[in-house]
Amino acid sequence: MGRSSKDKRDIYYRLAKEEGWRARSAFKLLQLDQEFNLFTCVRRAVDLCAAPGSWSQVLSRKLRANEEEKEQVKIVSVDLQAMAPLPGVTQIQGDITKVSTAQEIVRHFAGRPADLVVCDGAPDVTGLHDVDEYIQAQLLLAALNITTHVLKPGGTFIFRGKDVTLLYSQLRVFFKQVTCAKPRSSRNSSIEAFVVCQNYTPPEGYAPNMSNPLLDHSYDVDFNQLEGPNRIIVPFLACGDLSAYDSDQTYPLQLDASQEYRYTPPTQPPILPPYQQACLLRKNNLLAQQDFLPLDQTLISMKLSDQHDASPN
Ligand SMILES: C[S@@+](CC[C@H](N)C(=O)[O-])C[C@H]1O[C@@H](n2cnc3c(N)ncnc32)[C@H](O)[C@@H]1O
Repeated sequence: MGRSSKDKRDIYYRLAKEEGWRARSAFKLLQLDQEFNLFTCVRRAVDLCAAPGSWSQVLSRKLRANEEEKEQVKIVSVDLQAMAPLPGVTQIQGDITKVSTAQEIVRHFAGRPADLVVCDGAPDVTGLHDVDEYIQAQLLLAALNITTHVLKPGGTFIFRGKDVTLLYSQLRVFFKQVTCAKPRSSRNSSIEAFVVCQNYTPPEGYAPNMSNPLLDHSYDVDFNQLEGPNRIIVPFLACGDLSAYDSDQTYPLQLDASQEYRYTPPTQPPILPPYQQACLLRKNNLLAQQDFLPLDQTLISMKLSDQHDASPN
């Protein structure tokens, strides 16, 4: 596929590059904000699973827009992977399933709680649907647990979900309003949606911890058989202006008759991505060749360092 054909097929990928966002996901958060007015009065925000950083960029641009107030704004981003720096954003390279990460976030806010926590987390997929779904749900559970450590009462928590019906209803234990929202920039062909949880109100006496076995409940017995007012149906909302581009449609390269299409390279190429070593091994035809491993590890290292030396960066 040529560079421009991807621009034609994925309008948000293209707009992200042209507007300087690190990933097309930025539009999802922007469209959620159009619907839910997420950023009003937010001074402390946390972006969980943030790399490469397009949501942190949105937070930075939106929350620090006012020159006089921008010094009061604190944004903390967490990811397992390293991320290129962003103005006004403190980065923690860490795991959101660890209580030490929660403590580090609170330390950055000088002990004060966050007004907003967003999480666009996605684990590496294995291709085994059930396993992937389980790991994704566990990641969400970790995000919720960490949120209970850092969010202020009345605060907002947003996360990306797929097939997480059980979690939706459980979230009502912690939040007054829970809405499942689908931004225009999230493809209809994907079951991805975002859960917007507003007005954090933990149950009385609730002590935040990182090991609530929420997923060990039996869904059928505990939740699916509830009836009448006890059965919580989480509202589903399509969001993003209807005039916004449709993420499933292919658009011509020349969007605006007065402006000629010009290819734009990605805003921020990944730094140290986990697949980098595999790419180099494949380039040198060393991938999955048992004879080379592990005895010829030195040879691999030599080839890799040759490549690094030859690279323009
Ligand atoms: C879809 S990307 C996030 C994109 C990001 N919101 C943006 O707009 O650029 C998902 C991220 O989740 C991170 N992730 C997965 N598991 C994690 C964990 N346990 N702790 C921290 N980050 C994690 C991955 O490293 C990956 O960068």
